[in-house]
Amino acid sequence: MLDPTPRRVAPAAPDRNTPLAPDLPADWPGLWERLIELRTHGAASGFIHDGATGWRLAQGVSAGAAALFSLYKPLLDARFRQRQEGEARAWVVAQLGQSLDGFIATSTGDSFFVNGEHCLLHLHRLRALCDAVLVGAGTVAVDNPQLTTRRVPGPHPVRVVLDPEARLDGQARVFLDGQAPTLWLCDARHAALARSRLGPALPRPTERAAPGCEVLAIDNWLVPGSEMRYRPELAIQALAERGLRLLFVEGGGITVSRFFGADALDRLHLAVAPVWIGRGRRGLQAPASEVMADCLRPLTHTVPMGPDMLWDMDLRSPAA
Ligand SMILES: NC(=O)c1ccc[n+]([C@@H]2O[C@H](COP(=O)([O-])OP(=O)(O)OC[C@H]3O[C@@H](n4cnc5c(N)ncnc54)[C@H](OP(=O)(O)O)[C@@H]3O)[C@@H](O)[C@H]2O)c1
Repeated sequence: MLDPTPRRVAPAAPDRNTPLAPDLPADWPGLWERLIELRTHGAASGFIHDGATGWRLAQGVSAGAAALFSLYKPLLDARFRQRQEGEARAWVVAQLGQSLDGFIATSTGDSFFVNGEHCLLHLHRLRALCDAVLVGAGTVAVDNPQLTTRRVPGPHPVRVVLDPEARLDGQARVFLDGQAPTLWLCDARHAALARSRLGPALPRPTERAAPGCEVLAIDNWLVPGSEMRYRPELAIQALAERGLRLLFVEGGGITVSRFFGADALDRLHLAVAPVWIGRGRRGLQAPASEVMADCLRPLTHTVPMGPDMLWDMDLRSPAA
């Protein structure tokens, strides 16, 4: 007999022991290993750098591996300019995984998983290529994320939580698990409160070896009465002063919109999944324009990521 009840099949949570996205190009894992070597040591076999075009591949690779390389090349080029050419400016990439109707989570905050396995791996690769991964307090409160690179070879970034008024309780995983250094960014007026919440609340089995968690106070970070709430550029500056100059803003929508609105992003990755959420947490909210010709239309290229489509946008191109 036919079952008249429509079935809702939630995507299975990726199992950490099963390799994700088995349909990745066969030559990609080897290329990624060398890319991490390049990120870490500034040189690796198979990559050539020239002043005009930045890094490129010395040998031919599959079309799929070349497409993935094109996504990470801007980060490698930025690192080269910072390390080898002494560029002082920080460089910032942001991402959002969203539905066809522009939501990054349901109205309850459920975002597991908007995108498929390929995008999950992509997220971990962006973390591995950057000095620091930044998330809003809302994401920490809802997702309790780890923000590590456990799904790909590569170093963990410093984890940065943007929480100007220290609204979090200090009990989230990033503050306690010791897997990677964590910075809790607060306006200086709220830093003492944050510090008081970082007491020895939970046993930390690897305490002595574990990287620490620290409150980083920013003077006059909060902007009273403004929708922007805080000045993203002061956060970027505070991180740059600590040597963290390649930054990845991972979400959520409010945080990415704040950085976007402050013109603090160099690059934006929007991963669009073939799903409608209907009503939920908004993705990027760009400043409005009345005239179509005035609307921001950045230089864009797309890379298929399994069932999703990744839009890679250069926000510093003349068009943008
Ligand atoms: N699909 C994706 O790519 C992706 C990525 C990351 C997160 N997410 C999802 O996005 C949602 C979170 O993003 P979001 O745009 O709402 O926020 P967000 O950008 O992560 O964080 C900023 C917002 O969180 C608020 N906030 C501060 N402390 C909080 C607390 N303790 N509890 C709850 N909110 C607090 C902030 O309020 P104030 O301005 O007053 O401080 C601000 O409005 C979650 O559902 C998460 O699962 C999706």
